[in-house]
Amino acid sequence: MNNTIPADRVRASPDPERSVIGLFDRLARPLLRALDPETAHLLVVKALRFAPQRRPAADDSRLMVRAFGLNFPNPVGMAAGFDKHGEVPDALLGLGFGFVEVGTVTPLPQAGNPRPRLFRLEPDQAVINRYGFNSEGAAAVLARLAARADRGGIVGINIGANRDSSDRAADYIQLIESVAPVASYVTVNVSSPNTPGLRELQRASALDDLLARIVELRDQLAPRSGPTPVLVKIAPDLSLGDLDDLVGVARARGIDGMIVGNTTVRRPASLRDRATAKEAGGLSGRPLYPLSTRMLAETYVRVEGAFALVGTGGIDTGAAALGKIRAGADLIQLYSALVFRGLALVAEIKAALIAALERGEAEKLSDLVGVDAAAMTAEPWPG
Ligand SMILES: Cc1cc2nc3c(=O)[nH]c(=O)nc-3n(C[C@H](O)[C@H](O)[C@H](O)COP(=O)(O)O)c2cc1C
Repeated sequence: MNNTIPADRVRASPDPERSVIGLFDRLARPLLRALDPETAHLLVVKALRFAPQRRPAADDSRLMVRAFGLNFPNPVGMAAGFDKHGEVPDALLGLGFGFVEVGTVTPLPQAGNPRPRLFRLEPDQAVINRYGFNSEGAAAVLARLAARADRGGIVGINIGANRDSSDRAADYIQLIESVAPVASYVTVNVSSPNTPGLRELQRASALDDLLARIVELRDQLAPRSGPTPVLVKIAPDLSLGDLDDLVGVARARGIDGMIVGNTTVRRPASLRDRATAKEAGGLSGRPLYPLSTRMLAETYVRVEGAFALVGTGGIDTGAAALGKIRAGADLIQLYSALVFRGLALVAEIKAALIAALERGEAEKLSDLVGVDAAAMTAEPWPG
């Protein structure tokens, strides 16, 4: 029974997992930030691959979340794009994430866009990427995940179409069929800005056709592979009219959840690194927070509890994580802030969520989901 541990004790806990994180954040991260961003990322993944594997420390039971039929030990997930090829899900779970989303995985291997394709905007604590789905392909990822399947933990797989595919819908169908046996859930990524034309699949008629086939397949596979919840990941750049249609289709087809959302092609006027801001690609990190949180609230009021939401975009503090939950997120994911804030952020967020409960903001996390959504949708649109 650990649900009476005060938040400050959670924060100060001297367990070995935390000291590895402290060492990494203090020593390795400053060096990594001096490197080209993609090289730094590849090095971190390699380090995690060869680091001693540990089972995740048990979370405070008040952090548990039930969503899409799964029990998450805590609501803080690693967003797609960090572990694109399924190399380090267990290392990430061991670092305290409540779940890990591997991918985006494409059916066939593909190289993605030429380098450089990842840029840091240091003064903005932001990142621009135009990877374009570099993927080792489904077979390689599947083999890795099958080899760790008995270790448990929630590992979702984010799927996308090959750039040169002549039938993108068929790519998603084929991927779901192959990954369902090893995926805790599948995310249908129709929102990457870096594969030309991909985001057209978010249009209501295209999405309706795609989801009809996907949901039928999900239901056919369930007796053999067990339930595979299907999530759709959307762009923060949709108009509210498009969002109306998209949520209508998603509800009618009976998907299990939605991730709001991917990177933005917009460049907020507040960006200070104007030169790097000119790079093509999707922007993530702190400047994405206002837009993605507003879109989350807009989605929440339209979904009306029909399915669960994952809030993603610009989370870099405990308060920001809490803000996502209050805007409508059952679960949250992060990526870019790890570059600027380090791995200790995961524990910091978990401690902040517990502290909010101890302050009496609510009895349990689920009571906070969406409490600010309606009010947020009445505010001026974030600039
Ligand atoms: C370098 C990088 C690569 C990404 N690759 C993917 C990807 O392959 N698939 C995907 O759905 N999202 C991808 N994303 C988007 C993230 O999953 C997330 O939605 C977005 O970055 C917003 O969260 P953040 O501000 O915490 O980074 C990527 C993001 C970054 C920074």
